[in-house]
Amino acid sequence: MFLDTANIEEIRKAMKTGVFKGVTTNPTILLNERTPRAEKVREILEEGVPFIYVQTIGETVEERLEDCETILALDGEGRTGLKIPMDIAGLEVVKQIREKYPDCKILGTAVYSADQGIFAALAGCNSIAPYINRMSNNDLDPYKAVSIIRDFIDERQLNCEILGASFKNTNQVIQTLASGAHSVTIPYNIFEKMMNKELAVSAIETFNRHGEMLKEKY
Ligand code: E4P
Repeated sequence: MFLDTANIEEIRKAMKTGVFKGVTTNPTILLNERTPRAEKVREILEEGVPFIYVQTIGETVEERLEDCETILALDGEGRTGLKIPMDIAGLEVVKQIREKYPDCKILGTAVYSADQGIFAALAGCNSIAPYINRMSNNDLDPYKAVSIIRDFIDERQLNCEILGASFKNTNQVIQTLASGAHSVTIPYNIFEKMMNKELAVSAIETFNRHGEMLKEKY
């Protein structure tokens, strides 16, 4: 699991649970934090987060490649990966980064279709991020896309995983995993909704109340 945020408080709370491998960010998420990108990424790394994906910015291949270098220079420990938007220029960026940095982790992002996911896997992305909620909002079937990409990866034994992204409710997360995604990146509020279920929270409260009564009486 990854956490889809750049908010330090959320990162601190989530990392304590031990179930998150790292965080994913994008320019919109970083803009909401009102801090320069480099400063925020360093702050997140200083929190001890095992891994962070940072998205490349730029129109042309050259601009994106330059930004890849800037992102990779933010951390000398290999804890930073590149999120590369998946259009044709993105494929070219993946190819060049793969040649120069064979071990660099690359997440192909802004994936709205099985087509993009398939090419992202062939290009050499380690992970692919299909945008579940955004696809649904555009009358596309995100689960079918996830399942097609997963079959494609498995049949050809490609070294690539599906990291479902863009979630607005907990059902989307579960359906994405059930459709074949290896993992997901979720905002903190979705994580809270997945774990602090009203029924469970209320049952835990009752058990605790009874536990206190038990200690008092016996
Ligand atoms: C993560 O990698 C994506 O950038 C993110 O999940 C997009 O989410 P959104 O659709 O809520 O902006």
